[in-house]
Amino acid sequence: MGDLIIAVGTRPEIIKMAPIMRALERRGYPFTFAHSGQHYNYNLSLQFIEELGLPKPDYNLRVRERDPGRQTGRIIIGFERIIKAEKPRLLLVEGDTNSVLGAAIAANKRNVPVGHVEAGLRSYDLRMPEEHNRRLVDHLSSYLFAPTEVAKRNLERESVWGRIYVTGNTVIDACIQNLPIAESISKIMEDVGPEEYMLATLHRAENVDDPKTLKEIIEAFIEAPMRIIFPIHPRTVKRLRKYGLWRRLSKSGNVKLIPPVGYFDFLLLMKNCRLILTDSGGIQEEATAPSIRKFVLVLRISTERPEAVEAGFARVVGVEKESILRGIEETLNREIDLPRFSPYGDGRSGERIAEIVTKEILA
Ligand code: UD1
Ligand code: UDP
Repeated sequence: MGDLIIAVGTRPEIIKMAPIMRALERRGYPFTFAHSGQHYNYNLSLQFIEELGLPKPDYNLRVRERDPGRQTGRIIIGFERIIKAEKPRLLLVEGDTNSVLGAAIAANKRNVPVGHVEAGLRSYDLRMPEEHNRRLVDHLSSYLFAPTEVAKRNLERESVWGRIYVTGNTVIDACIQNLPIAESISKIMEDVGPEEYMLATLHRAENVDDPKTLKEIIEAFIEAPMRIIFPIHPRTVKRLRKYGLWRRLSKSGNVKLIPPVGYFDFLLLMKNCRLILTDSGGIQEEATAPSIRKFVLVLRISTERPEAVEAGFARVVGVEKESILRGIEETLNREIDLPRFSPYGDGRSGERIAEIVTKEILA
């Protein structure tokens, strides 16, 4: 029985919790590590646990439900069982997935306080399941680890009841800690070759589950003026096949489709690319890390990461073919002087959160 449960369920949660787990390990502070199994493919889950040197999860709920309500329900039931067995004094979650919501509800039902890492992000786009998840979890949480002052202000505006700490985002720690390792062991650049490329990822439900939007985005990729490397999320593969778009994209000479890659390979793909095209949240933040520093075209109509846009690292270009192509042309044709500092912190967020958890919350 430990005082602390760290809950994860998807690729970005593992990456962003890792710096906190490492900081806890350095302090010799024990925790129970629980995975919902929401992401189950090796290359979206276990690969990151292995690469980042994390302990094997003490629990894996192996939730395989596809319908979001059933999925969240199974996660609540599974985490309630873990909480009953472990009797923790705190449950930490990170981000805005269904696993985060499910684990937080389970803790709340068992009177266990929730600590929310990456609290206070808001896109104000109510089509996004993540926007609802983060609002609900922020209002359930007793401790809110806001990455920036902007996030803190969002929480204050909504009058959350928990205590707010501004800590930076642990993803910057993850970049700083792992890039030197990536540079010494990843071989991905041998496959990519010396020619310039743009890096793309795409998986948001409001993009890939809508056939018209998905078609607009992939047509922009196919016609783009520079080759694109595209590690493709399994959700997107499934939707491309369902909407009859897979053959066209996979036959395109301009787009190199590859399976999702591990963290070391992805860090190098970011570091060496000319430009990033993505609807990912975490990648918008990582692009601002001093060791990466890349411009991002955000393939969405909103972002919950306005700090990256304001600092000059990102531009929200929408999801229409013409606006994406215009964004690419304009970016490739101008000199961009990116800031040297990330708006998401100094890479010590994991240490800060571990310090607050061990010395203040659970002291
Ligand atoms: C989830 C999160 C999203 C996060 C993303 C990180 C929610 C609502 N969404 O989206 O916020 O940005 O993870 O990548 O929680 N699939 C596989 N193998 C896997 C995982 C998923 O094939 O290991 C396929 C399945 O068909 C599944 C679909 O992808 O039904 C969607 O998976 P799900 O975990 O529900 O959502 P993501 O799109 O991954
Ligand atoms: N990532 C990775 N391999 C890939 C694509 C992404 O390691 O093929 C990493 C990326 O560096 C970032 C995280 O996965 O840390 C982002 O996850 P994703 O885009 O799935 O989720 P989001 O951040 O949008 O919730």
